[in-house]
Amino acid sequence: MFITNTIKYIGVNDHHIDLFEGQYPVPNGMAYNSYLILDEKIAVMDSVEACFADEWIANIRRELSEAGRSADCQPDYLIVQHMEPDHSGSIFRFLEEFPRAKVIASARAMAMVRNFFGCDFGAQGVIVKEGDTLSLGNRTLTFYGATMIHWPEVIMTYDDQDKVLFSADAFGKFGTLDVEDEWLPEARRYYIGIVGKFGVSVQTLLKKISGLEIRTICSLHGPVLKDNIGYYMDKYNVWSSYEPEEEGVTIAYTSMYGNTKLAVEELENELLERGVKVVVHDLARDDMFAAIADAFRFDRLILATTTYNGGVFPFMRTFIEHLTDRGFFGRTVGFIENGSWSPVAARGMRALLEKAKNIGYTESEVRILSSVSDENLRGIRDMAEVCMYNSRGCMSMPWCKRVSSLRCKCMWMIIIS
Ligand code: FEO
Repeated sequence: MFITNTIKYIGVNDHHIDLFEGQYPVPNGMAYNSYLILDEKIAVMDSVEACFADEWIANIRRELSEAGRSADCQPDYLIVQHMEPDHSGSIFRFLEEFPRAKVIASARAMAMVRNFFGCDFGAQGVIVKEGDTLSLGNRTLTFYGATMIHWPEVIMTYDDQDKVLFSADAFGKFGTLDVEDEWLPEARRYYIGIVGKFGVSVQTLLKKISGLEIRTICSLHGPVLKDNIGYYMDKYNVWSSYEPEEEGVTIAYTSMYGNTKLAVEELENELLERGVKVVVHDLARDDMFAAIADAFRFDRLILATTTYNGGVFPFMRTFIEHLTDRGFFGRTVGFIENGSWSPVAARGMRALLEKAKNIGYTESEVRILSSVSDENLRGIRDMAEVCMYNSRGCMSMPWCKRVSSLRCKCMWMIIIS
């Protein structure tokens, strides 16, 4: 992979991993990126997960050799931007191999080293902070604090010669680099899942780097981004501001005996007939984190589930908790509930969503008593009608949180007045 004449890719692909961070399914594996900067001084940007230490060291030696450096050439610096084990796991293996190198990291990263490894870098460690610089000869690296993107110790690094932003986890995605897939879906699922809670930190960082000329983004996961940098910046701006990315409806559901699923299929068809973009997720069977990403992506969300143990069916409860944990905000939500004797799922879902700010609710809810009735089908058509409109409120009264609807009392207040 060509980055620039003096920046070489030395990362690895992990095809064995099934769950990233122990919870996110990664059917296409994961790349742990690392980069070698060749200048008068030589710097390595981050290490890789411990299992891949030998392959990574071999990559470093190969690139040094191909650059015509002598057999005893050693990197001068290892820059540790992030201490999460997928990037810090091979640091001490590196120091065994290249004992003269200095390790550059933030003060918080240095404190974490002892927790992870039971020792520190001693005189080899060099602490850097926001705005500090490191000259490699022809280029100067500048360090930017990137607290909570996605841990507190994170720094990012800007190379003023090749105009490269080494962005730590930011702008990364799930998937190895030898699998062809689109950046956006897996970058969104990665961002919302892992960094989604820390939108304010991302906004701060985006403002901080807005004046830099960035030609290339070298993330610690996913492809090197070279073209249309503004597109990626814009996606991060939208995601971190919690604004919907698109107009459309996400339906997230669980179904015990197929009846709630039938209602969801009816609603999906009604929405498609009305030309509404809709995606459907079975929370018990599909990747829940894809559903979470879509809930943030679209401006409307329908939750359909069963009453269970006098509350909300477990997968749905978990799903809503994932949303509120990540700052779910400013969407319109509708409920379909099912219960054979005392349905309370809608009330329970609404209570769980109280942690989310600025949520509007559709006027109509659908209550299924075991199986889908004719009245339910009419209710589903009403819900589809309401969901045709976007989530900007009824647009009659600024305080109205309802989805646009001719039946909204605000609309009639406008007409009467
Ligand atoms: Fe790729 Fe936050 O570790």
